[in-house]
Amino acid sequence: MSSVRLHVKIKRVCARKRPRDALKAHLTPVRGGGGGSAPCAPCSSIMAESAAVEFCSDSEDLFGDYDSILEDSSILARLDDAEQRERLQSEQLQGFRTPPPSTDAMSCSAAPLSDELEDLPPSQLQFQEQIQDQAKRSRLQVAKATPTPPGGAAKIGEPEGAKRRGGVRRSIAEQLKEAMLGNAAAPAAASRSEALKEAVISREISEAMEAISAEAADLGPFFGLPSKVKELMLRLRGIQRLYDWQETCLNLDCVHQRKNLIYSLPTSGGKTLVAEILILRELLCRRKDCLFILPYISLVQEKVRGLANFGLELDFMVEEYAGSKGRFPPVKRRSRRSLYVATIEKAHSLVNSLIEGGRLEDLGLLVVDELHMLGDGSRGAVIEMTLAKVLFMSKATQIVGMSATLGNIRDLQTFLGAENYTNDFRPVQLKEYVKLNDTIYEVDPKGENGFRFSRTLNFKYSSSMQKMDPDHVIALVTEVIPLHSCLVFCPTKKNCENVAGMICKYLKEQFLQHREEEKAALLRELKDSGNGSMCPVLRRTVPYGVAYHHSGLTSEERKLIEEAYSGGVLCLLTCTSTLAAGINLPARRVILRSPYVGVDFLKRSQYKQMVGRAGRAGIDTIGESVLILQEKDRKLVGELVCAPMENCYSNLMQDEGRAVLSLILSLIGLNVASSLQQLDAFLRRTLLFVQQQQLCADRSLQEVVRQSVHILKEKELIAVTGTDSALQVTRLGRAAYKGSVDLAYCDVLYRDLSKGLEGLLLNSYLHLVYLVTPYELVPQCNPDWMVYFRQFSLLSASEQKMSAAVGVPESFVARKAAGQTVKKNPDLVAVKRMYLALVLFSLLKETNVWSVAERFQLSRGFVQTLLSSASAFCSCVLHFTEELEELWPFKALLTELTRRLSYCVTAELIPLMEVAGVLEFRAKQLYAAGYKTLSHLANADPAVLCRTIQNLYKKQALLMVASAKMLLNEKAAALQEEVDDLLTLPADLPPQRLQPKAADF
Ligand SMILES: Nc1ncnc2c1ncn2[C@@H]1O[C@H](COP(=O)(O)OP(=O)(O)OP(=O)(O)O)[C@@H](O)[C@H]1O
Ligand SMILES: [Mg+2]
Repeated sequence: MSSVRLHVKIKRVCARKRPRDALKAHLTPVRGGGGGSAPCAPCSSIMAESAAVEFCSDSEDLFGDYDSILEDSSILARLDDAEQRERLQSEQLQGFRTPPPSTDAMSCSAAPLSDELEDLPPSQLQFQEQIQDQAKRSRLQVAKATPTPPGGAAKIGEPEGAKRRGGVRRSIAEQLKEAMLGNAAAPAAASRSEALKEAVISREISEAMEAISAEAADLGPFFGLPSKVKELMLRLRGIQRLYDWQETCLNLDCVHQRKNLIYSLPTSGGKTLVAEILILRELLCRRKDCLFILPYISLVQEKVRGLANFGLELDFMVEEYAGSKGRFPPVKRRSRRSLYVATIEKAHSLVNSLIEGGRLEDLGLLVVDELHMLGDGSRGAVIEMTLAKVLFMSKATQIVGMSATLGNIRDLQTFLGAENYTNDFRPVQLKEYVKLNDTIYEVDPKGENGFRFSRTLNFKYSSSMQKMDPDHVIALVTEVIPLHSCLVFCPTKKNCENVAGMICKYLKEQFLQHREEEKAALLRELKDSGNGSMCPVLRRTVPYGVAYHHSGLTSEERKLIEEAYSGGVLCLLTCTSTLAAGINLPARRVILRSPYVGVDFLKRSQYKQMVGRAGRAGIDTIGESVLILQEKDRKLVGELVCAPMENCYSNLMQDEGRAVLSLILSLIGLNVASSLQQLDAFLRRTLLFVQQQQLCADRSLQEVVRQSVHILKEKELIAVTGTDSALQVTRLGRAAYKGSVDLAYCDVLYRDLSKGLEGLLLNSYLHLVYLVTPYELVPQCNPDWMVYFRQFSLLSASEQKMSAAVGVPESFVARKAAGQTVKKNPDLVAVKRMYLALVLFSLLKETNVWSVAERFQLSRGFVQTLLSSASAFCSCVLHFTEELEELWPFKALLTELTRRLSYCVTAELIPLMEVAGVLEFRAKQLYAAGYKTLSHLANADPAVLCRTIQNLYKKQALLMVASAKMLLNEKAAALQEEVDDLLTLPADLPPQRLQPKAADF
């Protein structure tokens, strides 16, 4: 049965041109049941398995993709030709007949066309005659090639008029299908080989039918999904059954009715699984695309990897939209549905491009993980804009949001028009404690000040140890490690490193022996990832199974540490709060070193996210958190641990309404609104509107709209046009919203780029790199003038000249390095930007973050952040320049530069690094082991990979190969779509039939 499915599934490059109508008709699922509306659940199981087969237009062959017939003989090819010719002829005939056509088309065609076409040039007449001849010949061939069974098949040779039933013309292909089915079933006076062929066809048809009906019987046993999904959940995730709340939630009426939904449960409650099942339903049953929004690139990559196998098995695409990855507009796929997994910013751009292409309704479901991020500064504003656009523009798109930390769900419900489901289930019980001096208290809202006495600590500390570790962190961690895992959240990055070092200083020798070999391998890998350089703190702590984790690490280091921690090789991580919201790294015990993040007192949501890491489902039976506090913070901590969840507020008005400005610009640019009234109507769909009493009491939203429009006009980003005074974006405005360029910088950017073109230096990357160095990082840059001067003097004469041209002359840098005062200060933004550009320039040359960081005396984490911001900004600038004709040379230049900055590795590693989550060190290992291309990786056996690649765990190998396969599929499918598009007759092709002169009638 599966082989039949495979045959059916293969969709080959079709070299014949198909009319657009036929392609549209492809969207009708065959199994929708006799042309009726396609029901949702009943088509679930098979459609994922055999995406190609369920699409069949009424003018296409039922066996269009059925290899056995295609490969069998030239019958179909000939028929196809015949059908096309006949269709063409028939169209021509109809075109010539001004009075309604006679019912007998053949009688019309019997009249020589040339009679009607005497006025045509001889060459065209000849062409028309050829068509007629061919049509006649093909009819003869068809009649010959198809034995005439009793009944149906004889119709093929019948005149056109006889083929009409109820006024609907049936295609030759359709009739042939009928004939073939008849032939297969009926005994015919045919040759032995023909009989055999028919027998094979007949068997394959019945097998295909069986496959279809068997799968139909399997519809929806697993929450409306085929049982294969259940099997995959077990095989790929180890999930045997859903938690009760998950079942309840999935069976809610509002979920069945596809209403918008917000659900909130404690951390580790298993929220993701519900979202994933809803996504699979949408992809497989409703055959719609889905968008899954996650807050960080690392989470997007993890999800892409985790779902790639589902996509491969169930035949849908998983597409990564993070960093510089993701196509705009997304590739339109005819046969397969797509799941876009996107960061917040990329999701916004994706929704914009779908609106622009009139394709937003293709998006069946939008899921937002960590919905409380709506309240998180400018990123929250971007989520709000995305959601508001979908709410306003597409009734067909369902929105689902989830979070563990939502205070004012009601506001969000009103904003999204959503139902709410809440449950306090947690698979592993979490016990929250605080430690004050020598006493541990359990958090208990009913206790005095929110605490209840639990135990007194009696650690035997030496006096030196007591001095080093007055908070007893070492004692608290050694109660659980190395057998269990532990996370220690620290207020600053430096503190993370210090605490890791301090703990190791007092750990016993036996810690060194625990998983010794794997830790040695990890150290080697950390060294390789740094091209021979290694962090001295990690070198000291890793042998004890301890590491630190914060944004100062390179992404390679972070990944290695995360993987080693997940695999149990490392048992303790000291980390900053970023780990809590980032990758899923739970622990048996979580310790909060202090109730501060930097100098700010913890927020309730931060506290909940951190302690929520405690207790690993399926591994631990209990999770514990200990917050270490000092007497002075006792009251505040009492309020913190017992307070209700924080509220989440709209950020559209933050920074003097910056987000509202860019929202209005994009609404006008996308033609969503072109008048003040339409803008008002849109703003009424925002969270800001729901919360305007709290956030915007001093003026109405209408006033906000009018003021914003005024500012945009002043900035010449929009203008009023036409007699109806419609608002329209200017060219600059369009470039700004297309490139997602911050409105604060768009005119500076335009000026810099235009000036750049006057003397663009192209014999090195420096000038281009300077132009795409992100403006927002400039304030964070404090050049070391000596380093600046040294690097500057290494530049070529033309590079120095270019630098002087943008406002950074050598004399200025030299004077600063010499500590002299400079009378005429140049533009400091240009000076700092050039310094950052020098960092990027060095990186492009050497591709070694470590040595560049050392040379410029920056942290390696910052250098990497600079690199990833520059690659993202470069792609923004690229889109910006695409809209402005005068900046045309940048298009080609920045396409390549984006790629170089995105990967910043030697060219041969790039194909491997395109796979989600494959970083430079892993790409190098793979390359050295002979896996040099995407195809190598996609065809690798994970078990062999594990054996060949050092420290690659089986699960990672499986996920890596699956992502590579998915990416390969995605690329191949995109090419296939391109081929199909190229071969499709344009819908607006001018009429290709000759118009007779009026005198002819
Ligand atoms: N029904 C289930 N049976 C067993 N394990 C499950 C089940 N559902 C989810 N899990 C597992 O529980 C763990 C936590 O789930 P998940 O990441 O979805 O939590 P969450 O609710 O999103 O938490 P957070 O708010 O921290 O993101 C995951 O490892 C997941 O695979
Ligand atoms: Mg989650």
